[in-house]
Amino acid sequence: MREQAARGLETARARTLALTDLDERELTTQHSPLMSPLVWDLAHIGQQEDLWLLRGGDARRQGLISAQVERLYDAFEHPRATRVSLPLMSSREARGYLGEVRHRVLDGLDRAPEEQLFGYGMVEQHEQQHVETMLATHQLRDGEPLLGHGAPLPAGREVPAARREDAVLVPAGPFRLGVDGTEEPFSLDNERPAHQVDLPAFRIARVPVSNAQWREFMAAGGYDDPAWWSERGWAHRCEAGLERPLFWAADGSRRRFGVVEQVPDDEPVQHVSFFEAEAFATWAGARLPTEQEWEKACTWDPAAGHDGAPEGRRRRWPWGESAPTPALANLGGTALRPAPVGAYPAGASAYGVEQMIGEVWEWTSSGFEAWPGFTPMLYADYSAPFFGGDYRVLRGGSWAVDGAAVRPSFRNWDHPQRRQIFCGLRLAWDA
Ligand code: AVJ
Ligand code: FE
Repeated sequence: MREQAARGLETARARTLALTDLDERELTTQHSPLMSPLVWDLAHIGQQEDLWLLRGGDARRQGLISAQVERLYDAFEHPRATRVSLPLMSSREARGYLGEVRHRVLDGLDRAPEEQLFGYGMVEQHEQQHVETMLATHQLRDGEPLLGHGAPLPAGREVPAARREDAVLVPAGPFRLGVDGTEEPFSLDNERPAHQVDLPAFRIARVPVSNAQWREFMAAGGYDDPAWWSERGWAHRCEAGLERPLFWAADGSRRRFGVVEQVPDDEPVQHVSFFEAEAFATWAGARLPTEQEWEKACTWDPAAGHDGAPEGRRRRWPWGESAPTPALANLGGTALRPAPVGAYPAGASAYGVEQMIGEVWEWTSSGFEAWPGFTPMLYADYSAPFFGGDYRVLRGGSWAVDGAAVRPSFRNWDHPQRRQIFCGLRLAWDA
């Protein structure tokens, strides 16, 4: 377990350093008001590790940097748009700080009691989340490509997903939503506790919505007809002048990490807001799934039984108990894009739903709320301040997510107008 924790921290750090191996100007530029300059993420990763693992979360204890400098990296105190004007550490100082914190953390890991190991997994996931955030910053930056085209991916295959009749039927009935620490020791606070939920029958698409489907929506005037949009969605569409997904151009090309290329038909659409996703679903005669529906379709095996539960059992992953591999899901960030629809038949859930883990974060219709019995974790402000806010839950993780930082129970959230994250959608229907 300690060996695994150390390896997880190392994997995250290798990704952090790779994405910040840039000149000082690139690191200190604010590429978008939606994002921090990369040099902020860099030092913030170290600051959080220092706080949670070297001081047990007690901010009154002196860390490795002064309290004054430390406060520059408090995400609540300084919104992203303002971070560029703060007297931040240079990248050289930040790397030194990260290295020193990590050195002490690994020293302490050998002596840490079992019950403290959760913190190491939490900090690893925090760093991996910022790696994804830094990838979104890279995607927003102008200039020559720095990351290449991305690693090869498996080929897709034809999977009908546009119509209700093609979708998987998930019959009505109870299932187990969420997880407990005993089954998923590194699950974060908002995923817990596991509890029974009874859902009416529904249908859910076998694969995410593709670029080709999105083009049909555009060609049908989907962006110009308020009939498909919620009132708030339409107001946002007009104010923001939305006409197509972020990073798409009018000529059918897109810009992906500085590379201009044709938008591939068979890839899951990404960089659409919740409002656009909702309008697309309405136009298609469908709706977005709730997060409960999404999790049932992902994890529930209706045919499996066990003692005391005659019908159904929760799988750890859609495909079963084994950890993700490159044959099962597109994770880890090296592809720099989602895989074509149909690329992972072996990764299907018990109900036959594919590509739920990896590819794109999938918007759900659910607001971000606590599960009954919620208890904050060591990082007590990770979830709680956001419950009940203007957020929608996203599920499944994107191609940019590391396998250690996502699970079928993992809940991401963002404002409904955001689309710089690697987000798309999957359709659902009432049964
Ligand atoms: C879970 C992605 C919504 O970036 O706002 C990082 C993750 N929290 N540092 C975010 C997070 C604190 C969080 N999301
Ligand atoms: Fe953070």
